[in-house]
Amino acid sequence: MAAHQTRLVAVANEKGGVGKTAMVVNLAAALALEGKTVLVVDMDPQHNAGTGLGVEITDGMPSVYDLITDPRAGAVRKAVVPTKWKGLDLIPSHIDLAGAEIELVDENGRENRLKEAIADIIDHYDVVLMDTPPSLSLLTINVFTAAREVLVPCQTQPYAFNALEGLFDTIADVKAEINYDLAICGIVPTFFDQRTRISRDILDRLRGDARYRGLVFDTLIRTNTAVAESADAGKPVVNHRTGSYGAADFKALAKEFLARRPHPA
Ligand SMILES: Nc1ncnc2c1ncn2[C@@H]1O[C@H](COP(=O)(O)OP(=O)(O)O)[C@@H](O)[C@H]1O
Ligand SMILES: [Mg+2]
Repeated sequence: MAAHQTRLVAVANEKGGVGKTAMVVNLAAALALEGKTVLVVDMDPQHNAGTGLGVEITDGMPSVYDLITDPRAGAVRKAVVPTKWKGLDLIPSHIDLAGAEIELVDENGRENRLKEAIADIIDHYDVVLMDTPPSLSLLTINVFTAAREVLVPCQTQPYAFNALEGLFDTIADVKAEINYDLAICGIVPTFFDQRTRISRDILDRLRGDARYRGLVFDTLIRTNTAVAESADAGKPVVNHRTGSYGAADFKALAKEFLARRPHPA
């Protein structure tokens, strides 16, 4: 039997509002429906992934903040909370995480904190999906260090295409200096709207670009209000609005994700 290898996935894009958190929450839930065990690690101080998974983030609850500022062995187990959905767990974020960057500024190995903190538990999961804040911070570097692959949501909207270049440069730097194993899982077009010319143009450019075309998923995440409504209700769209386009798209994404192998960065 082949050894079990957990897929460690950073969901990243330096822009905000491109669908990172929606992808983490809904891909995680869709993978759980496929029978996979999934851990979501929320590394955004805004903690939208936790909220989207229906977990109330309260003061004093153990969070990823404790793990990276005080990495005592064993603390990670206390920080894992089950969600209402089978096979789907969360390590929540906390608003205090925003200050972690400054707190860790003089610490050696500060980019390794998340990787070390979750090392003991990753074997329990088939997939670990890590959400990132919309900036290249120490938090994002921690995620890139803990990950083996990066999944990139790319909005099919103006400027999104150009912003990819900076992200791919960052990934190449992290690979060269910190995490030689880092690979690209793929680029997923998001907020796709067949009726708009810009959506179709950006998709054509992605699929035609020499650097990106081998990386672009066939699955498109369409703009669908059920996705935003479900986030607001604290439920993944695949469990909440099961007949929506949003649910169909994230289920298709889960199948394609499982079939795809990461591509060297
Ligand atoms: N496919 C979609 N269709 C409609 N709304 C979406 C979709 N994906 C995300 N949203 C909404 O758009 C906003 C930004 O998405 P979000 O996933 O939070 O982006 P990011 O994490 O990159 O900042 C949120 O309100 C979210 O609920
Ligand atoms: Mg987000």
